[in-house]
Amino acid sequence: MDADAPLLFFDSGVGGLSVLEPARVLLPNAPIVYVADNAGYPYGGRSEAEIASRVPALLGRLVERFHPRLAIIACNTASTIALDHVRSALDLPVVGTVPAIKPAAELSKSRVIGVLGTQATVRQPYVDNLAAEFAADCTIIRHGSPELVDLAEAKLAGDEVTVDAVRAAAQPMFDALSGDRIDVGVLACTHFPLLREELEAAYPGVEWIDGGPGIARRIAYLTREQPWPADPRGGVMIFTAEPRSPLLGTLARYGIGEVRTL
Ligand code: DGL
Repeated sequence: MDADAPLLFFDSGVGGLSVLEPARVLLPNAPIVYVADNAGYPYGGRSEAEIASRVPALLGRLVERFHPRLAIIACNTASTIALDHVRSALDLPVVGTVPAIKPAAELSKSRVIGVLGTQATVRQPYVDNLAAEFAADCTIIRHGSPELVDLAEAKLAGDEVTVDAVRAAAQPMFDALSGDRIDVGVLACTHFPLLREELEAAYPGVEWIDGGPGIARRIAYLTREQPWPADPRGGVMIFTAEPRSPLLGTLARYGIGEVRTL
């Protein structure tokens, strides 16, 4: 294994940074290529067929170009729809991001769990299966919110995002039958941990959990015997279309030193 071979993170936008962040804590010297498919954004409004053809094809091109040691689909929408397609198309280990329903069920006292994702993610059979396997005694209330995805993008681009705007987007989940009893909320879209502060302020009684830390441990485990560069270096962020603004100041917090367009 070449010490310079990167970890390749993939999302439709900036959401995957919420997965990159805990991974960098465990693997500070890992070379990073982060790909934001902003030409395809938002994934949450796309059909299963579109995601299932777009994501493996794009990842195939990216793997040929960057020769990563591991690909991380840091996107619940792409993972719940296309993880199997990607795994069969690529000849390298692929880690996906799926809703953290299992840890949510371990935590919930009220046995009412909210699952906040994209419209595409919350309708996936993958989510039904997780709920049946790990939370059969819980009521699961799902809500797909494209507004929250846009708010997370806006926040990272430096716009002001208010607690009221975040509450307005998440509130239908709490207004559903038994929604007032939700004590654990699953952030089933990688964009949403970027709004954790606002969600916590809007819903002080709710514990919000996401898959980021678990994925980071999985990446560290899968690469446990591999060499890394001796020092950390700036990661590269690749956009598939011209980004709205380069965001370089914000991205530096995630170890990204360079932005390119594919
Ligand atoms: N960040 C993505 C997810 O985890 C998708 C957001 C979008 O493009 O709709 O589902």
